[in-house]
Amino acid sequence: MDLLVTGGTGLLGSAVVRAAEERNWKVTAPSHSEMDVVDLESCVRVIKSKSPDCVIHCAAFTEVDKAEMEPERAMRVNRDGSANVARAAVLAGSDIVHISTDYVFDGRAKSPYGTDEPVSPLGVYATSKVAAETAVIEETSGLVSLLIVRTGWLYGGGRRDFVDKVLESGEAGEDLQIVDDQRGCPTWTCNAAESVLDLIDLEMSGIMNVRDAGQTTWCEFARAVLGMAGISSTVEGVSSRSFGAPARRPSYSVLDLADTELALQRKMMPWRKALRLYMSKRS
Ligand SMILES: NC(=O)c1ccc[n+]([C@@H]2O[C@H](COP(=O)([O-])OP(=O)(O)OC[C@H]3O[C@@H](n4cnc5c(N)ncnc54)[C@H](OP(=O)(O)O)[C@@H]3O)[C@@H](O)[C@H]2O)c1
Repeated sequence: MDLLVTGGTGLLGSAVVRAAEERNWKVTAPSHSEMDVVDLESCVRVIKSKSPDCVIHCAAFTEVDKAEMEPERAMRVNRDGSANVARAAVLAGSDIVHISTDYVFDGRAKSPYGTDEPVSPLGVYATSKVAAETAVIEETSGLVSLLIVRTGWLYGGGRRDFVDKVLESGEAGEDLQIVDDQRGCPTWTCNAAESVLDLIDLEMSGIMNVRDAGQTTWCEFARAVLGMAGISSTVEGVSSRSFGAPARRPSYSVLDLADTELALQRKMMPWRKALRLYMSKRS
């Protein structure tokens, strides 16, 4: 299998590159400067020159709060950049895996979101990711295979993430205030990357959800991180309203795993087990 991974220096992209290399797949991961997704000409040049079997599009503007202040940039990178990558992949005859997010939903559901439920994004980042999904569907329009993978709450190193921030505060002896009214599922990038590669192997298309198993709040996630690290800082649960982040987030963004587990013929790893494995690798 011959892959091209955008965003290969990012949280998920770096895990995808690692996992693919471990399978002895051929991987190209152009840097941001080698292939700016906003620039169609550079996408066409780089992707056509490699003509990979599949492009895994992980590059994105992912700063959810910053996107509220920079909506045009979020749309340019996420919507237009995804359209460019998809158009270039079609020209090269490459299949596409487009990475999307649980934040396409508004969080009003009371049970896990299936892949066919209507999207209803709350903020600029989420809106730009919905626009990205629409753009890649339009650009590919059946010409190459398209798999949209929705995931959420990623951690796993390679870039400063939630686990790093919690550990930094805990190691500095600080007590933390973390929101306790948003439910989702922490997902180790290593597991997400393996699932994405397995879905490619199975030649899946359409929309699939990929995440670890179970669900929790950011506050409980932080307590688990500190507990596993043996740090005794306290974590006070606070409401999203009092925390006051610029972007609204869904209060519930648990993705349904039934179709994914059926396709992969395995259960996803419980999030606490994944976190424990990751923490042991860190130390
Ligand atoms: N993180 C999460 O919890 C989460 C949750 C749900 C879905 N997702 C989705 O998962 C995917 C990967 O997210 P992530 O958290 O791994 O991202 P990330 O760590 O923020 O990394 C983003 C990557 O995109 C690259 N990039 C940004 N702008 C670019 C541009 N104009 N041209 C080329 N490359 C560019 C960055 O390179 P530079 O650093 O060099 O700019 C970096 O390699 C994204 O589609 C994101 O929306 C993430």
